[in-house]
Amino acid sequence: MATHTVGYLIGSLSSTSINRMLANAMIRLAPPDMSFTEISFRELPIYSPDYDGEFPHVALAFKKAIADVDAVLFVTPEYNRSIPGGLKNAIDWASRPYGQNSFARKASAVIGASPGPIGTAIAQQHLRSLLGYCNAPQMNAPEAYIQFKKGLITANGEVTDESMAEFLRNYMKQFQAFIVRVLTVVPRNA
Ligand code: FNR
Repeated sequence: MATHTVGYLIGSLSSTSINRMLANAMIRLAPPDMSFTEISFRELPIYSPDYDGEFPHVALAFKKAIADVDAVLFVTPEYNRSIPGGLKNAIDWASRPYGQNSFARKASAVIGASPGPIGTAIAQQHLRSLLGYCNAPQMNAPEAYIQFKKGLITANGEVTDESMAEFLRNYMKQFQAFIVRVLTVVPRNA
């Protein structure tokens, strides 16, 4: 099977992010024929339509990073029952200038971790709504609302709970199958 390239966006800028730990664990559990690159939005200024005439280099690089991959994976915390502002800002940049929406027809999946019991469910619903508007095909199932308990994932990205490891392994397998389906219907650069 061909290698499928995935760009992942971590919604948190925290140096101790549990969502980064989750992303690292998912990469370890993914099928071998998937490759991963982080797409960082840390350096993006706050979006304004005033930039539409001439996007700054950092924003062009951000959009190119999305264009260069088969699919995007969002691994995000929930902030105040939505996604963090930095991630929303990044999506706004990607969606513009008008007519050059980077997420259009791009396969996507969402997941998130929180210490709380609903495991980012409300943030993910908001994110799904944004991706719908941006015309990004989304993996609908499996959903993944991860309640993060201390020790769940080790510093080197190992999941200590085998049922969670199996769940994440299957999530990544299903994501790859979803990417294949999307690319079959909507080939890259179509
Ligand atoms: C939070 N947190 C949080 N948790 C949650 O389950 N629902 C929420 O709405 C919020 N809101 C929220 C707002 C802000 C500004 C912060 C800083 C935190 C707690 C959050 O889940 C926790 O800090 C996670 O560790 C954040 O994920 P990262 O940054 O560790 O990946």
